[in-house]
Amino acid sequence: MARKSALINVMEAAARKASRKLLRDFNEVENLQVSRKGPADFVSAADITAEKTLREELSHARPDFGFRLEEGGDIPAKDGSHYWIVDPLDGTTNFLHGIPHFAISIGVMEGKNLIAGIILDPVKDELFWATKGDGAFVNGHRLRVSARTGMADSILATGIPFLGKPGHEEFMREANEIMAVSAGIRRFGSASLDLAYVAAGRFDGYWERGLSDWDMAAGIIILRESGGLVSQIDGGEKMMEKGDILATNSGINQHMLDLLRKARKKV
Ligand code: 2AM
Ligand code: CA
Repeated sequence: MARKSALINVMEAAARKASRKLLRDFNEVENLQVSRKGPADFVSAADITAEKTLREELSHARPDFGFRLEEGGDIPAKDGSHYWIVDPLDGTTNFLHGIPHFAISIGVMEGKNLIAGIILDPVKDELFWATKGDGAFVNGHRLRVSARTGMADSILATGIPFLGKPGHEEFMREANEIMAVSAGIRRFGSASLDLAYVAAGRFDGYWERGLSDWDMAAGIIILRESGGLVSQIDGGEKMMEKGDILATNSGINQHMLDLLRKARKKV
């Protein structure tokens, strides 16, 4: 059982407080499915409330840290270097449809470096967390990526571009290459949990485009601390800036880079 750092304790306390309200709202969403108007406005209020709770709790604990908030924008750090990257509800579409797969994701930056992160899945009561150099954990157990080296027994998670997003053709070419040689593709709808599941060895890899840095910050440090490899889809390093990501165990990383490159050549 790993000892949690002070930063992890601060993030966990804030996320647990926000998650109690989110869970109550999720139960209400299930009731609203049958209403004509649907739960959309209700969900966006739940999202904003969760973010407000996180912001209050985190700024109380560390008054000098800044913020990068999905809903509330950027607040500069008073100490000039530390800030929280917060996604109060990752998997909003799942939440809206009453699908119990969503998370609160919080990363901590020191300048340009990720130093810690947590991902809390309130429904399954799983807390994924990592501090740089100290390994990654889920509910106190050490996380390790899977040891698989062949595509034929690997499961890959992804995100499929939806309404209003570009890249449908590109995605289909990538999926064609990967489904032909792998044990299967999954689309679960929460980028942070996809990354946490690669860290836990449940998925062997994950790729997606069109994300924001708050979708992936905590997941990147958790994955790295679990022995996983993370890059852009073409192998570049600017995941947080560009919004595309490939996360894998070490055994299939080169296979995935090659398959995704092959898909690009078919344009
Ligand atoms: P969200 O639920 O916080 O919006 C699913 O493919 C992943 O993409 C989720 O992590 C989801 O995060 C994110 N996502 C959904 N809509 C998005 C959008 N319009 N722009 C960027 N990311 C989005
Ligand atoms: Ca998100």
